[in-house]
Amino acid sequence: IHPPVRSICCIGAGYVGGPTCSIIAARCPHIDVTIVDINPARIAAWNSDPDPLTGDLTGLPVFEPGLSDIVKECRGRNLFFSTDVDEAIRKADLVFVSVNTPTKKSGVGAGYAADLHYVESSTRRIAQVATSSKIIVEKSTVPCRTASSMRVILESNSRPGIHFDILSNPEFLAEGTAMRDLQAPDRVLIGSLDTESGQCAADRLSEVYENWVPAERIYMTGLWSSELSKLAANALLAQRISSINSLAAICESTGASIHEVAHACGLDRRIGPQFLQASVGFGGSCFQKDILNLVYLSESLGLTPVANYWKQVIEMNEWSKNRFAHKVVQTLFNTITGKKVAVLGFSFKDNTGDTRESPAITVCRFFRRELARVSIYDPKVPEAQIHADLVDREHDATGVVAPQGTNNVTVCSSALEACKDAEAVVVLSPWREFRCENLDWGHIYENMSKPAFVFDGRAMLDAEKLKKIGFKVHAVGTGPEKTDAWL
Ligand code: UDX
Ligand code: UDX
Ligand code: ADP
Repeated sequence: IHPPVRSICCIGAGYVGGPTCSIIAARCPHIDVTIVDINPARIAAWNSDPDPLTGDLTGLPVFEPGLSDIVKECRGRNLFFSTDVDEAIRKADLVFVSVNTPTKKSGVGAGYAADLHYVESSTRRIAQVATSSKIIVEKSTVPCRTASSMRVILESNSRPGIHFDILSNPEFLAEGTAMRDLQAPDRVLIGSLDTESGQCAADRLSEVYENWVPAERIYMTGLWSSELSKLAANALLAQRISSINSLAAICESTGASIHEVAHACGLDRRIGPQFLQASVGFGGSCFQKDILNLVYLSESLGLTPVANYWKQVIEMNEWSKNRFAHKVVQTLFNTITGKKVAVLGFSFKDNTGDTRESPAITVCRFFRRELARVSIYDPKVPEAQIHADLVDREHDATGVVAPQGTNNVTVCSSALEACKDAEAVVVLSPWREFRCENLDWGHIYENMSKPAFVFDGRAMLDAEKLKKIGFKVHAVGTGPEKTDAWL
């Protein structure tokens, strides 16, 4: 029914579509891969020239360790970036839909449900321009049963004689480790309808992955299980972090150490050691959005206790971020008004320049409301992005949202510069370069006001070493007996 895949189109050149299809191009030299986007600036950035001095592709719109080498290898060979969406759809045997699915901001389900209008408009486009049968693959995380809406759109808009099969193939990559996750995934999930052509489509997609993924790691399921599994996996991961962060709060008040507690629990193979790193809170484009989605789904199925159960994971995260910010103010003698507070790390995790739902946004906004002077350093987040995330917005008389500037926020180009003359250093994302062995904390101490405080929102620094230098240290999940003898 479907021939072997020779040509792939990916709609959406973002954090998911870009890296995923670059790897497919690298591992499948016999397949042409075209990644398209309606945003011309984004496509131009994917097509940007190498740095004349180093030869590195530094202008790509997504920073991911290892990505630029793969793009350099494949671009122009069997990997293309284009704004010509229609042409790429027409040529393709298989189309990945990898567009953004943000949380709805208004209307029914506002604040919870996914905004599917990008998925819908790209699906309509496929139906309108396709002149041959195709396999359509949902790559973006979507609510359960989205495939069914896509099917209705495709069937009501396509030309006669053209057949579409829809697959769900959620992407489980984590940012910062995307290339590694894509090259050696724990599993590839492919959901299809239990029909002959549905199964054939699933086999064709599986063949693409089998170019580098062992067949036993490819798991075939029904469409709805596949869609729900993506939401479920992210909810379970986020739940672990909220759980460990709730325990971190208990540790801080009892003198237990969250490092010891997490290690002790993780030694139980049923629990396992991963994803038990206490933190200021989780961020990223997926966890909150997907749980809100799950909450909305549960609510619409009449399962209110289930909705409330998962909502609590987000509430714990909000509480964690605020608790940490409060701790800073409380420790600095209950006021940070006019004080210089240095923030190290603004991305939602290390090895990415992405700030979507970053806990640093919540914490820095808190500091701004307390009228502190906030100086921020992050190795990868562009200055303009930090200002865009922290800008105050005010509704004018016509209801238009107007930016009110980001006074009292300074973006610095090094950690040393950000910390100069500061009263406190607050570590918010776990970049390796902030570790005691990589950063000259002695030098930072010399240039700070005294007492000099460090607040470790990622529980990643060697507190003993910092205390020897002279710092007063507060780390998430470590109690007064351990590090806060000065309190
Ligand atoms: C538990 C802990 O496993 C053990 O480490 C601790 O020392 C004592 O408490 P126990 O209660 O004996 O042990 O049995 P466990 O295997 O944990 O099961 C507890 C309950 O959960 C049982 O009713 C079991 O049927 C149920 N269960 C367990 C599930 O419903 N699903 C599961 O995946 C696992
Ligand atoms: C997540 C899922 O891991 C991935 O499988 C899915 O495809 C997309 O969502 P991502 O958001 O990119 O990936 O990063 P992840 O490593 O999961 O981290 C999310 C947040 O949790 C980050 O802010 C991170 O710092 C935080 N985190 C993670 C912790 O605070 N503690 C941990 O133990 C792990
Ligand atoms: P994700 O993290 O899910 O990859 P991104 O926001 O990084 O999300 O990327 C999604 C991309 O999809 C954006 O670059 C956006 O411009 C693009 N996009 C959205 N709708 C369409 C569409 N109808 N056609 C082509 N590209 C689209």
